[in-house]
Amino acid sequence: MNWIAWIFVGVQFILLFVLFRIVIRLVLFILFFHESLPYAPSNWVPQRAIARLPVLDGRKKIVDLGSGTGELLLAIGKRHRAAELVGVEHNRALNFFARARFFFWRKKGRPTIITGDMFAYSLQNVDAVVGYWIQVVMPQLLEKFAKELRPGAVVICHTFPLPDHPAFSKQEINIPYSKKQIWIYTKCSL
Ligand SMILES: C[S@@+](CC[C@H](N)C(=O)[O-])C[C@H]1O[C@@H](n2cnc3c(N)ncnc32)[C@H](O)[C@@H]1O
Repeated sequence: MNWIAWIFVGVQFILLFVLFRIVIRLVLFILFFHESLPYAPSNWVPQRAIARLPVLDGRKKIVDLGSGTGELLLAIGKRHRAAELVGVEHNRALNFFARARFFFWRKKGRPTIITGDMFAYSLQNVDAVVGYWIQVVMPQLLEKFAKELRPGAVVICHTFPLPDHPAFSKQEINIPYSKKQIWIYTKCSL
């Protein structure tokens, strides 16, 4: 086979891989759309923007509440190798894909995927919580954050902001060259 044929095979292989990813995402999205907080992976723009936030530097434990197939964790994990990363997701099928995603990562630095209810996961020793949430779950989440997070801990989300709360200071960031936004909530000292 000459080099043009190799390039042709390579391009076909990449296209097939991209198509496979799109189909898998679409099937999972359709299957789990009925939930109050449905599966919808974060777009790569906010994923990367969140991962690059200086406020995450040096954080020891970062938790994605409702981690889906681990897209957001992946972006964060690539930049914050020293942090302990945890994904909490109640859907076993999505957890299967998330664990497969991290299967070849070295044990040290590999995100831990926990099957469980994000509202039941204790945030006592967590430095940063990230997530992609919608309005229906936000009041309950906010109450949990206010009760369990220690001063200085941050909550970071994108696309939809959390309601204001006196226990948190809020910072809004417009992602350059995009219409998307990120919000950082820092737990205030008592
Ligand atoms: C919008 S997706 C976000 C996925 C991922 N964080 C990301 O940014 O790509 C929300 C996820 O939360 C999960 N979820 C909804 N309610 C949950 C609960 N009570 N406990 C754990 N996970 C939950 C859904 O199954 C879904 O995968």
